Amino acid sequence: MRVTTTVNGQRVELDDVWEGESLMYALRERAGLPGSKNACEQGECGSCTVYLDGVPVCSCLVAAGQSEGRDITTVEGLASKTDLHGVQQAFLDAGAVQCGFCTPGLLIAAHDLIARVPEPSDPDIREALAGNLCRCTGYEKIMDAVHLAADRAGARP
Ligand code: FES
Ligand code: FES
Repeated sequence: MRVTTTVNGQRVELDDVWEGESLMYALRERAGLPGSKNACEQGECGSCTVYLDGVPVCSCLVAAGQSEGRDITTVEGLASKTDLHGVQQAFLDAGAVQCGFCTPGLLIAAHDLIARVPEPSDPDIREALAGNLCRCTGYEKIMDAVHLAADRAGARP
């Protein structure tokens, strides 16, 4: 089947989508957007997180067909053509990325948190990122990165 959706502000037609195909597969293999990672494919790790109509979802658990007519933002869509998003830059600057497999999902989750809670506390961050597993960093640098991103966003005129 063909699925027509909007991804990162662009209308996209995904052809030959099969009924059981996940949105994650369609984004990675048909839309050329490999940012969302496939780590567990069962909703456990959060590495495949994207926005679907403004709500973070595990794209491995969403059927591609469910995205018909809807609005998707992937980690690629956070950045502008020339600059990383502030959350992305903060993860780099805080050293919160090691293998990077978890990073796309964490970026979407952190982006969503800061939009909802501009000055998140440690418990706010822990709760918001609870569905995103990282096997490398021990989470401290990730916490630092979210605080840094929030502080910088708050300092912007
Ligand atoms: S790959 Fe989707 S939650 Fe792990
Ligand atoms: S940086 Fe490797 S899983 Fe998080």
